[in-house]
Amino acid sequence: MTHAQVTDKHPGELADVPGWFPALDQTLFTWFLEQQTKAGIKGDLLELGVYMGKSAILLGHHLEDGERFTVCDLFEGDAPDDANQAESAQSYASLTQQAFERNYLSFHDVLPTVITGPSSLVDEKVSPDSCRFIHIDASHLYEHVYGDIGAAHDILLPEGVVVLDDFRSEHTPGVSVAAWEAVLNRGLRPICLSTQKMYATWGDPEPLQEELLAMLRLRTDVGLSVQEAAGHRLIRTRSRGMKPPPFPLSRHYEEPAPAPAPAPEAASSAARPARPAPSAARRLAKDLLPPLVTRAVRRARAKRS
Ligand SMILES: C[S@@+](CC[C@H](N)C(=O)[O-])C[C@H]1O[C@@H](n2cnc3c(N)ncnc32)[C@H](O)[C@@H]1O
Repeated sequence: MTHAQVTDKHPGELADVPGWFPALDQTLFTWFLEQQTKAGIKGDLLELGVYMGKSAILLGHHLEDGERFTVCDLFEGDAPDDANQAESAQSYASLTQQAFERNYLSFHDVLPTVITGPSSLVDEKVSPDSCRFIHIDASHLYEHVYGDIGAAHDILLPEGVVVLDDFRSEHTPGVSVAAWEAVLNRGLRPICLSTQKMYATWGDPEPLQEELLAMLRLRTDVGLSVQEAAGHRLIRTRSRGMKPPPFPLSRHYEEPAPAPAPAPEAASSAARPARPAPSAARRLAKDLLPPLVTRAVRRARAKRS
């Protein structure tokens, strides 16, 4: 995990919140969540691993009346084992629950339900068959991701969508093993893959895949390919210079100050064209011609006398 830029300031827009949430995934989250709302699918939202709140802030924006949003993170607390502790110390040392809450409340009036502790707690704290969307982005070590996928299986509604972060990043082989193992042995069915995340369901992925393909084929900023593997249709997507989708500004957003007008003196000297440097020919004429002319005049006078 590379380091995200951390600041102490209130964010003015989502782009100001440190984290790992590429434009393509912001677009896909938005699409899946809006699609569920359009289809009348009701259910809670869950995120495991919030860091400074970048993806949680976007998720919270899609919460409908009567739905609950739960997040879980270790924050400054101890990890359940040494490997997870080392992972957290290396990648998330600057994280505090206070920073997450400050960022989240910059965009929303109410915090989600926060579970402070390891993601293994969610199974007992979140009801089975209650969620329509789950983002798994906590520890990236195999044992933890295996457990998080198991919990998601119990908590997700049959038509719900689960997203696995870093399922193929070079530095997170444990997530890759857990993700593909779930596809091959635990009934998980991929809907699509982005560069960073796998979007999947334990329901039927085909209707969503069809709608997703129709939407993506209209865009010129997404690279798209479809492959079959082990009986699964894999829709691969990648950004071609995609910009993040529009997102409401935070309550702390400040219009950038207009660029100061140039001072009058600077303005007039800027308007006046610079004096050109003397050319080589002009320098020649100025320095060499007078002596030559003088010498020629003297020679002419001497001839005459
Ligand atoms: C990659 S970051 C999350 C990024 C965030 N979703 C975003 O979009 O910016 C991973 C987070 O998982 C948390 N974490 C690590 N191990 C965990 C565990 N066992 N249980 C819960 N959270 C954990 C870390 O504290 C960190 O905040």
